[in-house]
Amino acid sequence: MITVHTIAELREHVRAARQAGRKIGFVPTMGNLHAGHISLIERSRAEDCFTVSSIFVNPLQFNDKDDLARYPRTLPQDQEKLAAAECDLLFAPDVNEMYPNGQDEQSIVHVPVVSDGLCGGSRPGHFDGVSTVVTKLFNQVQPDMAFFGQKDFQQVAVIRKMVADLCMPITIVAVPTKRAEDGLALSSRNGYLSADERQLATGLYQTLNEIGDDLSAGKDITELLSAARKRLDSRGFRTDYLEIRRVSDLAPATADDREVVILGAAFLGPARLIDNIQVALN
Ligand code: PAJ
Repeated sequence: MITVHTIAELREHVRAARQAGRKIGFVPTMGNLHAGHISLIERSRAEDCFTVSSIFVNPLQFNDKDDLARYPRTLPQDQEKLAAAECDLLFAPDVNEMYPNGQDEQSIVHVPVVSDGLCGGSRPGHFDGVSTVVTKLFNQVQPDMAFFGQKDFQQVAVIRKMVADLCMPITIVAVPTKRAEDGLALSSRNGYLSADERQLATGLYQTLNEIGDDLSAGKDITELLSAARKRLDSRGFRTDYLEIRRVSDLAPATADDREVVILGAAFLGPARLIDNIQVALN
């Protein structure tokens, strides 16, 4: 696997792959890679794409500067994992390559409505940072397909709307969430947990599944969510949100909706964990 750090080198390699008749598949990441990220690489390879990944801890999407400062940077280990997964090209730009005029002078891509609420509500400006950096990365790589994890369900919804609204000729593929054996969704932020907290961490996924069971049993939404929030807090978390939304557009679910997604975010010790499950109701 080749690693490049500049847009010019990136474009040279992508151009060569395209001239050789390859489709380009793109997996953007912030590094500290785990099996969830690698499943995106595998999906791109399964689509027969020349696979480009990026590692860039994007300051524009961190509303909390401490969160940005402590975000794990593990480039050598990440390179090994990507090479083992047969990723073709890694783009690892520094902040000056991505924001040569500084972050304050950067044009911003804002995706309305779907960026509001959920993680957008708890992390103001977060999705503007994500849609802006992903637009830049898309223009740098010019992929045919791009792969995102369903673990960040709202992020995929934001990217899908952005690509549709701005006529970006890119197929967005959402890949199922990779979990540890006890159900915890893999995340770079799981590394912040102590051994005891790691034991408790599965409580978020457990609570989402209980909400799904209660919904299928026809219980009242307001009541079941308020009981679930209490249960999650009693499991050692501090609940940020628990919500039930429509899969198609993330609008709040109504009694008529059949395809719903249950989304949760909660603090556990030093980590803010997010997860979601999709449920089909009869
Ligand atoms: P990051 O958190 O590094 O995630 C990169 C990609 O991996 C995202 O599409 C995310 O949804 C996916 N991912 C993370 N955990 C996963 C899991 N357990 N199973 C499957 N996929 C998983 O998301 C970002 O970076 C950034 O916001 C980015 C899109 C790179 C823009 O900066």
